Amino acid sequence: MFESMQAASADAILGLITEHKNDPRPEKVDLGVGVFRTAEGETPVLEVVKKAEQRLVDTQESKAYIGTAGDPNFNAAMQALTFADSVGAERISTIQAPGGSGSLRVAASLILRARPDATVWASDPTWANHIPLLAGAGLKLESYPYYDTNSHTILVDQMLDALSKMPAGDLVLLHACCHNPSGLDPSEDEWRAIADVIVERGLVPFIDMAYQGFATSLNDDAFVVRHLAGRVPEMIVSNSCSKNFGLYRDRVGTLSVLAADNASRDIVHSQINNVVRTIYSVPPDHGAVVVSTILNDPELKAAWRVELAEMRGRLREMRVLLNDALQERAPQHDFSHLVRAKGMFCFLGVSEDQVNRLKKEFGVYMVGSSRINTAGITARNVNYLADAIAATL
Ligand code: LMR
Repeated sequence: MFESMQAASADAILGLITEHKNDPRPEKVDLGVGVFRTAEGETPVLEVVKKAEQRLVDTQESKAYIGTAGDPNFNAAMQALTFADSVGAERISTIQAPGGSGSLRVAASLILRARPDATVWASDPTWANHIPLLAGAGLKLESYPYYDTNSHTILVDQMLDALSKMPAGDLVLLHACCHNPSGLDPSEDEWRAIADVIVERGLVPFIDMAYQGFATSLNDDAFVVRHLAGRVPEMIVSNSCSKNFGLYRDRVGTLSVLAADNASRDIVHSQINNVVRTIYSVPPDHGAVVVSTILNDPELKAAWRVELAEMRGRLREMRVLLNDALQERAPQHDFSHLVRAKGMFCFLGVSEDQVNRLKKEFGVYMVGSSRINTAGITARNVNYLADAIAATL
């Protein structure tokens, strides 16, 4: 049965974890996979998560099945965090999903059931797994212009033009904040203009929100979700708690679908739950119940916001630090886009050959597109890193 199979190629992002781990050079730098790191280069469990986990150990009474939609307290808290009061809850179905990827996968099946001929339009570039994940589920994908690699700016006019030509009923995949890989998001005015065309054309927004709280604040980062929720009849939102709660391997997220009215919401809800049953039956519980414990307790929620702000602040500081170090070494090159970007990622803006040289000669790991995870930068490695980059320019 397997004799005709060929080995699959390593994942462009996850493959870097092993490559970096196996590199014996002590000065190596990991700017690959999107996990937060402290100034010491660690990814510790958030303190607030530890507290919530302790509470669970002491009080959780059962691990019996909870159902395809997961924990209702978690779902309600996540729905409020995502939509606030932008739209009536009677129109939204929210389910607990196994991480952002699990949420996207359920959304893909739901789209195929509702509108099998629809195309999903993704930004060029987009997260390296968006297209394999959604196309692998059977969806048709196309791309719209988003990022200019020469000027390191967003191509808003080209994006608006592309949107205005998309067939009504197609879906537009948007990154709510901290665009992965570029780190550049539209301004609120630009989002409004994008929403105008989405409404005019009758397109369905499909929003991936994997970094809420990592760009500016929990509320500001949800701007496009809440703005569109007030304007469109239907919308899909995939949330991830991997980054903002540091629960990467616990697989925590939600899928929220906004329907035109309460009756369609109930139909959609039944379909989503049926999709879940046919893929993984029920979602993993632990991470979601941790998040629910935090979001439903004012003291823990306040402590979480502090830790989240610290993570956000560190990412911002490291961008500035690297930009300054590069300016010193290579003043003729402009790296100011590092500072304009938000969240975990941005493009360094070097060629794939340079990326390979950085890996081979200096043990500096990043995605082939030169996307860097700024959380991998520390005050201790920034000079080494900037020297290495400057040597390849
Ligand atoms: C990333 O883009 O590095 C993260 O979202 C991790 C992943 O699964 O790719």
